[in-house]
Amino acid sequence: MSKLTGSRKATQFTESVIREMTRLNDLHGGVNLSQGFPDFPAPQAIKAAACEAINGDVNQYAVTWGARPLREAVAREFTRRYGLPVVADAQVTVCCGSTEAMMSTMMAIIDPGDEVVIFEPFYENYGPDVILSGATPRYVTLHEPTWSFDPDELAAAFNEKTKAIIINTPNNPTGKVFSRAELGTIAALCRKWDAVAIADEIYEHIIYDGESHIPIATIDGMADRTVTLNGLSKTYSVTGWRVGWTISPPSLTGAIRKVHDFLTVGAAAPLQQAGAVALGLPDDYYRKLAADYQRRRDVLLEILERHHFTVYKPLGAYYIMTDIGAFGFSDDVEFARYLVKEVGVAAVPGSSFYKNGAAGRTKLRFCFCKKDETLQEADRRLEKLVAARLSVH
Ligand SMILES: Cc1ncc(COP(=O)(O)O)c(C=O)c1O
Repeated sequence: MSKLTGSRKATQFTESVIREMTRLNDLHGGVNLSQGFPDFPAPQAIKAAACEAINGDVNQYAVTWGARPLREAVAREFTRRYGLPVVADAQVTVCCGSTEAMMSTMMAIIDPGDEVVIFEPFYENYGPDVILSGATPRYVTLHEPTWSFDPDELAAAFNEKTKAIIINTPNNPTGKVFSRAELGTIAALCRKWDAVAIADEIYEHIIYDGESHIPIATIDGMADRTVTLNGLSKTYSVTGWRVGWTISPPSLTGAIRKVHDFLTVGAAAPLQQAGAVALGLPDDYYRKLAADYQRRRDVLLEILERHHFTVYKPLGAYYIMTDIGAFGFSDDVEFARYLVKEVGVAAVPGSSFYKNGAAGRTKLRFCFCKKDETLQEADRRLEKLVAARLSVH
């Protein structure tokens, strides 16, 4: 057999459906409500800080595990918000986005054959992350409409091979915010089976309706067994900067830093400098961020409902999961392609968030991290859907 093929690992997963939808959207000149990046500007103060860092010649490699001002800002803010002491030198590692933070963490702590528990639907990167690190995934369903899990089902997914569980709260794609009670259930299982919690908290500040974000690291006995991931992308509307980080127990930091160093050496030095400025923005910034997103959420909820989607109202993050049963398409990918080509709106097929794609076949995810004009243009284009619906009813 020819050796000019991809590795067994690389052939076990497909290219990202989310990024494919963005490319299709660009081809058809659609309104992109698929990939989660803002189409409005990042805050002026942090753009200025990045320019200043470049002009001030912060242009060489930063320390491989992250520039001190950013690591210290990450530690300071986590302690200030949640009361948990974090030591920058022993616990914080800056990576190229929380994407690399997740990959470095998985590669650093997983051995082939170890099991990792993942809630489904999941952010699509977790699938390939698990394969590349050699882990065996164990999926536990989040049940709509509230996306709750069955504690017995979760308990059944843990065993002596369980090395870690991935928790993403606020959650992409469902908008679920895990409650203290739910996190307590997860924490008890982590303690029982000596497992690590890997907490993707990238939507920490994007939370609605008076809900509050609870890091699982703050639950009893979890600080020593939680790796918290976060980054600049979503909180400061700079998804292209690729700056994220891990906060890990000192016992795991060395392994994460080694993997991170050999994967990427480090994140962009001037953008780390600007990141330290970003983390120092006043609390008002975060209140406004959440309030602005809540308003956009309500705008898109109303638009989608009016166009006959069944919506699941998110309590955090910036996506709306919908059910597309009313349109008579039997396949979500076919519907998503129709939507982008014929209607001119890109969304993500639900099956890309499930291991067993059939579970997502009637779902579609829209994002609302967009300007009002963008959402209004999507509204106008969705008018065309009436015809599609009439043809099946
Ligand atoms: C749950 C989740 N984690 C991580 C990321 C990627 O974050 P970053 O830009 O920091 O790599 C995303 C982006 O959509 C996400 O939704």
